[in-house]
Amino acid sequence: MNADLVVVGSGLFGLTVAERCARDLGLRVLVLERRDHIGGNAYSAPDPETGIEVHVYGTHLFHTSNALVWEYAGRFTSFTPYEHRVYTIFKGQVYPMPINLATICAFYGRALSPGQARDLVARHAVPVAEPRNLEEKAVSLIGRPLYEALIQGYTAKQWQTDPRDLPAEIITRLPVRYTFDGRYFDDTYQGLPSDGYTAWLERMADHPRIEVRAGTDFFDVRDRIAGAVPIVYTGPLDRYFGHAEGELSWRTLDFTVEVAPTPDYQGTAVMNYADADVPWTRVHEFRHLHPERHWYPRDSTVVMREYSRPAARDDEPYYPVNAPADRARLLRYRELARREPGVFFGGRLGTYAYLDMHMAIGAALSMYRNRLRPLFGRR
Ligand code: FDA
Repeated sequence: MNADLVVVGSGLFGLTVAERCARDLGLRVLVLERRDHIGGNAYSAPDPETGIEVHVYGTHLFHTSNALVWEYAGRFTSFTPYEHRVYTIFKGQVYPMPINLATICAFYGRALSPGQARDLVARHAVPVAEPRNLEEKAVSLIGRPLYEALIQGYTAKQWQTDPRDLPAEIITRLPVRYTFDGRYFDDTYQGLPSDGYTAWLERMADHPRIEVRAGTDFFDVRDRIAGAVPIVYTGPLDRYFGHAEGELSWRTLDFTVEVAPTPDYQGTAVMNYADADVPWTRVHEFRHLHPERHWYPRDSTVVMREYSRPAARDDEPYYPVNAPADRARLLRYRELARREPGVFFGGRLGTYAYLDMHMAIGAALSMYRNRLRPLFGRR
């Protein structure tokens, strides 16, 4: 093997490490990727019929307040000025999310000043010193009417569990904005890669000292690699150790994609469905992510429905469940990881943490600076 470093996984964490080590340290980097494409969950591809860019693993919005991450990402792509907005349908009405002044006015059916809205929400909130479950926590923050409309059914579908049986810690807060600012993120920098995610990700990997082997599972070649050179591992933590401490639990998503024969299906990129009797949680319509792409067809659109459920071992792991049993297991896996010589664990799967893209890039830049660069003799 002609490599100085092996990176397992070509998501944003793995590609950031590979790019830095190849370009900055002059290392030869071998990237192993189980899937048949690079980019991890940020990967996108044009729909074959319409050419509309589809975010294959769910809609990905880039947002960060970290100037270093924004500068780094900007080396590989320019960004459009897209700012994300989300709406929720409940009982035939549409409300903007996260909850803001427009949501509260629409929900209570009248014009309210910020102060009046604040008083109204506070009047309905039922403070509890130690909430016993998610429902009690949510009601203590925003009151029962808003909870029952916008949170209860959606959360039950996301977790396939009654919110009264979910731990209160799942939500630390429910952001309520007492302004008409309906943007989903309030980060300093936001946008979408102008020519798509995959062009961005491919540019990161485009270096003569980086070799990407797609369609290669690390565990099929592990015997030939282990111990030879340092490894940065961004696959599932429990799988690395043969699930010795038990399985870490995840939620997975199922997606159905269709081309709808209409110029515009729902008027926005992401619509949440809060009614418990609608089986999907969200509908994504990708054309709205790129209003500047005038070449998108005018007679059809790509629509993707999202369904949520607990992941079995062979499903794609999407969101860590992080139940008390998981947290206990995670501590034991972290100890095993700490003692594993020459292997650096990173990324969302390798640390069992939900990471946004900017967090994955930021964490990879830190690993590069603090651990890999010193290891290879540069400071
Ligand atoms: P990622 O999962 O992307 O990459 C890991 C790679 O390792 C995968 O390609 C996998 O195939 C590979 N791998 C695993 N095991 C392997 C093995 N044994 N051998 C070889 N390869 C192996 N973020 C954000 O900023 N804005 C957003 O809007 C969203 N939206 C969003 C929606 C949904 C549904 C999800 C699940 C996630 C998001 N994200 C997001 C998060 C974003 O996807 C996340 O930050 C990045 O995927 C993290 O990159 P990683 O490299 O850590 O993991």
